Formats: sequence, C-alpha cells, structure tokens
Amino acid sequence: MQKRYLEGKTVLITAGGTREHIDPIRFIGNPSSGKMGYALAQSALNRRANVILVSGPTQLKPPKKIRFISITSAIDMKKAVDSCYEQSDIVICAAAVADYRPENFISNKIKKSEEKLTIQLVKNPDILLELGKKKGCKILVGFAAETKDLLANAKAKLIEKNLDMIVANDVTKEGAGFESDTNIVKIITRDGEVKSLPLLSKRRVATKIFDKIVKAINGLRR
Ligand code: PMT
Repeated sequence: MQKRYLEGKTVLITAGGTREHIDPIRFIGNPSSGKMGYALAQSALNRRANVILVSGPTQLKPPKKIRFISITSAIDMKKAVDSCYEQSDIVICAAAVADYRPENFISNKIKKSEEKLTIQLVKNPDILLELGKKKGCKILVGFAAETKDLLANAKAKLIEKNLDMIVANDVTKEGAGFESDTNIVKIITRDGEVKSLPLLSKRRVATKIFDKIVKAINGLRR
C-alpha cells in the first residue's frame, strides 16, 4: 500500500510577498496575501510532517504546531531559508520574492521636493535557484507566476532552477494567483507531465500538490 503521510519528513515552505524598503515607511512590494503558502503549510501539517513556514508580512494566522519564521525582505527570506535547508526533506517556494531591491536605503522619510525621483535598483538573490544548485535528494517545488506563455516560462524555470515540480499559475486569470481564495494551476513535473487543474480552493490545490509529492516519494522508495 502507498503511504499518504509524511511522518518524519520536514517540509519547508515560503509564503507571502517580500518588501524591499526604500525608506522607513515605503517599500517595493506585491499583492501576495500568503494564502497559497499557508494552505500548503496546513496541508503538510495534515500529512503529519514537521512544517517550517517562512513568511513575508500577511494578514493570516499561521497554523499551530509549526515553526514560523517571519521575514520582511528577500535577503531576510534567503537567510531564513538557508538556515533551515539542511534539515528539510521537501521545499516548496510559494512566496512572491522581489527580484530587485533599492540599492540604497534612505534612513529617514524621503521628503517631497524634486519633480522627479530616481531609485536605483539592484538584483536580489534568487533563493530557489541557489537551492537547486545543492538539491541532493531533496524534493524541490517552485511556483511560476506568469502573465503570458505560461507553460513555456514555467518549464524553463523548472529546468533552470533544477526543480522536481513547478506549479504554474496565470495570474491574469479571474480566480487565479494573488489574493483570491482560489487558484487555477498546472502542475508540471520533471518528466514533462503537465496536470491541468480547474479552478479550486487554494486548500484543494495544496492537497493536489502534496498528492504529487507523496507519489514522487513513493516512486523513489520503490
Ligand atoms: O500569496 P497569494 O496571494 O495566495 O498568491 C499566491 C502566489 C500568486 C504568490 C503563488 O501562487 C505564486 O505564484 N508564487 C510564486 C510567485 C513568484 O514569485 O513567481 P516567479 O515566477 O517570479 O518565481 C519563480 C519561483 O522562484 C518561485 O517559486 C519563487 O518563490 C522563487 N523565487 C523567485 C525570485 C527570487 N528572487 N527568489 C525565489 O526563490
């Protein structure tokens, strides 16, 4: 009989969006609510895994009985994820991480003076890409938030980041992506299989993702 549970496994999940501060009260951010990542954390908990949730600022209450690490920026998230990576068996990156941050942080509120204000941005580290380089036998799952060429872009990320699976969502679709309680995703596995799911609650999407993960683990065990 196949195992449905993840007893003894540690699942590390990233959720929410990062904030890249310009000054103490302004930041570059995105609308991620954390709902997708928190649904994954609950689903992992239901499967009896040890859960570590690294989350950007959200309005959500993390599930009880997990290890919760609250972060603000992409650099903070990378530090937190790196510190937990070794002990993790499965890593799912559902967070919307800012690709760029302001080069300089202005320590006092920027005053309105000039007509134009230029903010120089520098590239943030790609957390998942770096994890992929030291993947070993861990299961690595990414998300792809796309506005065009969903499958091609998601497949390219799966290869580039050395993932086992990528969950692609077209964030322009009604009921998919940021903030909603639902999502419409395609789960793409390393062997090229694409499973297209209809509009489902993020809870159900999380269950489907873990069904795939458990299947992959059972496949490895045989
Ligand atoms: O939080 P919700 O409101 O529920 O919204 C859910 C969601 C839309 C945020 C989620 O479904 C989703 O798509 N998350 C990934 C968003 C994203 O940043 O996608 P991306 O295509 O830019 O990144 C690809 C992957 O690399 C992601 O797993 C991302 O977490 C990771 N990444 C990206 C950039 C970076 N610097 N470091 C990373 O680890």
